[in-house]
Amino acid sequence: MNILVTGGAGFIGSHTVVALVEAGFEPIIVDDFSNSEKRALSGIERILGRPVKCYEADCNNLETIQNIFRQEQIQGAIHFAAFKAVGESVQNPLKYYENNLVSLITLLKAAHTEGVKNILFSSSATVYGLSEELPATEQTLIPKAMSPYGNTKQISEEILRDVVASGALLRGISLRYFNPIGAHPSAAIGELPLGVPNNLVPYITQTGAGIREKLTVFGGDYDTPDGTCLRDFIHVCDLAEAHVIAMKYLLSLEVDNYYDVFNVGTGVPNSVLEAITAFEEVSGKSLHYEIGARRDGDVPSLYADVSKIKSALGWTAKRSMKEGLADAWRWQQTL
Ligand code: UFG
Repeated sequence: MNILVTGGAGFIGSHTVVALVEAGFEPIIVDDFSNSEKRALSGIERILGRPVKCYEADCNNLETIQNIFRQEQIQGAIHFAAFKAVGESVQNPLKYYENNLVSLITLLKAAHTEGVKNILFSSSATVYGLSEELPATEQTLIPKAMSPYGNTKQISEEILRDVVASGALLRGISLRYFNPIGAHPSAAIGELPLGVPNNLVPYITQTGAGIREKLTVFGGDYDTPDGTCLRDFIHVCDLAEAHVIAMKYLLSLEVDNYYDVFNVGTGVPNSVLEAITAFEEVSGKSLHYEIGARRDGDVPSLYADVSKIKSALGWTAKRSMKEGLADAWRWQQTL
């Protein structure tokens, strides 16, 4: 069964492509490589022992997506293609609103004309913004978004929900990822941040590799057990498997009209200092870091209530933060 994966050469997309093949699906990638690299395709091929079909194309082009839906007899689509740098979205909001929203609208229009019913949307725990309800449940009230990037995730969820509510023959799920980390254990695919990483784990591994001089821990005076922020670090392979399970669920539904949203995390909070200690254990290196000022817009703690995805879809994370750091480190050493 053919599944379209937009942004399939990206970090989460590439791991999901591998998981889809392992589950017996045939993923078809569409990626314009504006924020990903072709080496992801050779990595996927190395893991699977064969290539996966990829269209180098713009997901904002309706005709392109319609043609792929038709030619490939697509049964479902997973929509990863989006820009994701929070800071850049503040500097250049139109770039984010245009790309992230138009690509989803295009996908939904093409799904409508070509009769593709099953859509999985790549959302983010960023939708919880400064909410202080912990752990965050899917019922947690969504506050005003903290960045244009976060707003595109909130609006995209609403677009999908509204289209389903309009009576379109559509089954949609939004998956709200917490903090994805790690890499495939083969070290053939992983995260490829552009320039200086914004996110903690690539910054840690680059510092471990000597590419960055030292890591700055953003804030050591939060009201948390060790003073540093708490996050829910989810292994990218667990996240990939959640997509496969969610897609199987959509495909199994007998109703033509369905929408729901699920948190995808471990439910386990870990602090920034705990992540550093775990990295030092798995790498055998002592990490050069210092405690610095808080970063604007960081919430002290954010972790998931994962009971909904467990009870509805039977999915739970299997891998620990430590495994994620070990895999991220193995991947870093190949770069
Ligand atoms: N951190 C540091 N130093 C760094 C980088 C990060 O101390 O150099 C800290 C941050 O202050 C934060 C924690 O590490 O406390 C995690 O930061 P990340 O940037 O890795 O992740 P965020 O929690 O800020 O955001 C991530 C994704 C977003 C997503 C969000 C959902 O980057 O895309 O999770 O919660 F929306």
